[in-house]
Amino acid sequence: MALLVTGADGYIGWPLLLRLARQFPHEDVIGVDHGGRRTWISEVGSDSFLPIASMEARIEAAHALGFSNLQLLHRDLTSRAEVYDLMRDFAPRVVFHLAAQPSAPYSQLSADHAAYTQQNNTDITRNLLWAIHELQPQTHLVITTTTGIYGAPDLPIPEGWLEVDTPAGKKTKLPWPPMATSWYHMSRGQDALNLWLAHFQWRLSITEVRTAIVVGPQTTETAMEPTLNTRCDADFYFGVVAHRFAAQAVLGEPLTIFGAGKQEKPFISLEDTVTSLAAAAALPVDGQLRIFNQYEEAVTINALAEKVQDTAKKLGIDVRLQHTANPRVEREEHRLAMSNGAFVQHLLPQSQQSVTEALSEALRAFAQQRKHVATLQQSLLPLNERSSTTTP
Ligand SMILES: NC(=O)c1ccc[n+]([C@@H]2O[C@H](COP(=O)([O-])OP(=O)(O)OC[C@H]3O[C@@H](n4cnc5c(N)ncnc54)[C@H](O)[C@@H]3O)[C@@H](O)[C@H]2O)c1
Repeated sequence: MALLVTGADGYIGWPLLLRLARQFPHEDVIGVDHGGRRTWISEVGSDSFLPIASMEARIEAAHALGFSNLQLLHRDLTSRAEVYDLMRDFAPRVVFHLAAQPSAPYSQLSADHAAYTQQNNTDITRNLLWAIHELQPQTHLVITTTTGIYGAPDLPIPEGWLEVDTPAGKKTKLPWPPMATSWYHMSRGQDALNLWLAHFQWRLSITEVRTAIVVGPQTTETAMEPTLNTRCDADFYFGVVAHRFAAQAVLGEPLTIFGAGKQEKPFISLEDTVTSLAAAAALPVDGQLRIFNQYEEAVTINALAEKVQDTAKKLGIDVRLQHTANPRVEREEHRLAMSNGAFVQHLLPQSQQSVTEALSEALRAFAQQRKHVATLQQSLLPLNERSSTTTP
């Protein structure tokens, strides 16, 4: 039996690979990645804010620590031939599909970046769906998309499906129409539609996990030794807002809140993200398309900044909050009402780490690596506002 993880060199994929190897010691755990994230981040003049080892060194360290059932292979999953070979070679019981170009600001950089992001992301998902259909229809596909698919509507957001009344007085369920607000997020909306199509045509077993903003520098496994660190980005393009605030705090900079900061966003800790994805391995292979909203807490950006400010104070760091012009087109006062009942019931009955705890860990980790973080200070800004910059 094998478990396959795509995007296994990534922020979530690497800790998931380790978790699966530990949780399923009698199965082969195969990770694949083409290392693209490492290239994209250097293209925007940044790096992981916590130092990370090469793919080879990571695997060596993992094997030395007893994770002997895992491998990490270099593959580009936009190649259909590579995906079909993987499916033939390993016949995985579950595919955890995390590979994507996941940055909205990166996808907004130019027409080329938008096209690259959409082609990369939708090609991989479509390749996997066809490979499962043609070679391995009993494989369970677990895929992380994003809560960003929903946009910021004036409606309570359900878990994937919109229930509407039919003219015959009955109820019917429709897939929520993607109302994403970036080229990246829309690529995942397109993926979600293709999942629906593949399920409609072939009745594959698919679990779509709509992931919220993930916070935290580590999980139980990556914390075992520094070579197992997962990447943690805080730059303008790839860093999530919580990590950007944590880096600004450690560097004594004001926390820059884009716009009014009243928009509520969904968050989850990295530990809980990995725990709940691993739990999906136990869902039945019954030809269902399940959709979960993988989030724990909705917080306004202002409240998030205040959380970072309070936590920083406990570490002896005083930080100011500063509102700046919003570089994103978004609804700055949007209140989030998003269901996550099925997610809590089936994938995360008990949280292992709150968002606030994950935020404190990020602050502590960045403070310990302050020298390294300081070398990346310029990358907190967009390329055109840096004092010395390389244009992509
Ligand atoms: N981190 C978050 O806050 C967050 C939020 C919402 C959704 N997600 C979703 O979770 C998943 C993982 O996100 P992440 O933050 O770990 O991103 P990440 O960039 O760290 O990891 C994705 C990995 O996929 C790899 N990859 C991309 N294209 C590939 C290709 N063609 N072939 C092989 N490998 C390829 C990249 O090299 C990278 O290592 C993505 O699907 C993303 O959309 C993440």
